[in-house]
Amino acid sequence: MSEMAKITANGSEIELPVIVGTENEKGIDISKLRSQSGLVTLDFGYKNTGSTTSAITFLNGEEGILRYRGYPIQQLAENSSFLEVAYLLIYGELPNQAELSEWDDSIGHHTLVHEDMKKFFEGYPSSAHPMGMLASMVCSLSAYYPESLNLNATDAEKMKTIRRLIAKMPTLVAWIYKKSKGHPFMYPTNKLDYVSNFMKMTFGYPTENYEVDPVVVEAMNKLLILHADHEQNCSTSTVRIVGSSQANLYASIAAGITALWGPLHGGANQKVIEMLEAIKADGGNSDKYIEKAKDKNDPFRLMGFGHRVYKNFDPRAQIIKSSADKILGKMGINDPVLDIAKKLEESALKDDYFVSRKLFPNVDFYSGIIYRALGFSTDMFTALFALGRLPGWIAQWKEMLDQKQPIGRPRQIYIGEKERNYVPIEKR
Ligand code: ACO
Repeated sequence: MSEMAKITANGSEIELPVIVGTENEKGIDISKLRSQSGLVTLDFGYKNTGSTTSAITFLNGEEGILRYRGYPIQQLAENSSFLEVAYLLIYGELPNQAELSEWDDSIGHHTLVHEDMKKFFEGYPSSAHPMGMLASMVCSLSAYYPESLNLNATDAEKMKTIRRLIAKMPTLVAWIYKKSKGHPFMYPTNKLDYVSNFMKMTFGYPTENYEVDPVVVEAMNKLLILHADHEQNCSTSTVRIVGSSQANLYASIAAGITALWGPLHGGANQKVIEMLEAIKADGGNSDKYIEKAKDKNDPFRLMGFGHRVYKNFDPRAQIIKSSADKILGKMGINDPVLDIAKKLEESALKDDYFVSRKLFPNVDFYSGIIYRALGFSTDMFTALFALGRLPGWIAQWKEMLDQKQPIGRPRQIYIGEKERNYVPIEKR
């Protein structure tokens, strides 16, 4: 007999089943609550609400654990390639050599973006934010691949749509970078691996040979893996809820990109560097900014600090922090902003305001410093996050459809006016 939870409401006792996950996480299944009691639950920001069961990513915020399909993030970041991790997230198992080669090759065959889409870029001002362009471009892929709209597509056809998107995303992100610089677009070089190809399209020029630096590729590969999935966060939940209406994959992912853009979510990586730059320009006094962040009358927040689920440390931030030193060292870069970041972290971790609220550096705190060292402009950072998060969004979208989940449609508690009669304008 499974465990039951009891709720006493409206004068009667209601029993609801407790669902237990493989890591012993527990949740009360309230799907029958309304039909049995007339009540709904209310949870602003879904702080206590499990929206789904999922077999993709396990996260324990208290202990700082993050695993994709059971594999610890540390092991994947150290040993695997981004495409291998993408395969793991989407198919559920690590590929063998033959499966990985077939996966790599097929992604390599879909990297070109339709020539007509280049015309879209002509219409944007060079100051356009990369995230606005990226969301539009990804959604526009549905116009070029109308088969992605077919709800009765075979599994093979659905996988082709997925592979196309994984293949074209780096081309789109690189072209967005080129657009912002006013430089000519670079076409993909399919004999290169995913990351090298992306770096060449971003930083190479048609008239010159581009030598891919293995240090740069290793750093980028690691960052993409660390961002690849993070269970039911704001953008992933958006992808799932849009996809639950049976909107096509490209439209669902475009919605995820727009959700990621916000500064409280993926947009924080851009804001962190802007904040560190501002502190540097203001004389490097990090304590002043710690005080500002604590002041409830000041809207300033320490960007890259705090997390909805991590309450001790963010394991991704730990890996990135230790990589930042190594990568900058190997590249011979001395970035004063890294010193400010470390000082800020040190002061915050000693301060009761941050300690008592369990506020620690999150993934975005150090990632921008590495992106910067690799040569990306600040406004590109969130688009790089999207590039990394893509396989996670796809895996979550696919799982939601495979589980035949109903359309996402929360309830509300109405707090507006009761019924009243219309008053003609001359009598108001
Ligand atoms: N600086 C100062 N105070 C903070 C910060 C911060 N960065 N983050 C949280 N707090 C304070 C809040 O003011 C609040 O204080 P109070 O209890 O006195 O009112 C308390 O800590 C709890 O914060 P909430 O905003 O309620 O926590 P929530 O879980 O809703 O928000 C979030 C989490 C959005 C990440 C928040 O910590 C934040 O705004 N951080 C800065 C932005 C950021 O780095 N976002 C990236 C997150 S990682 C990612 O999405 C990839």
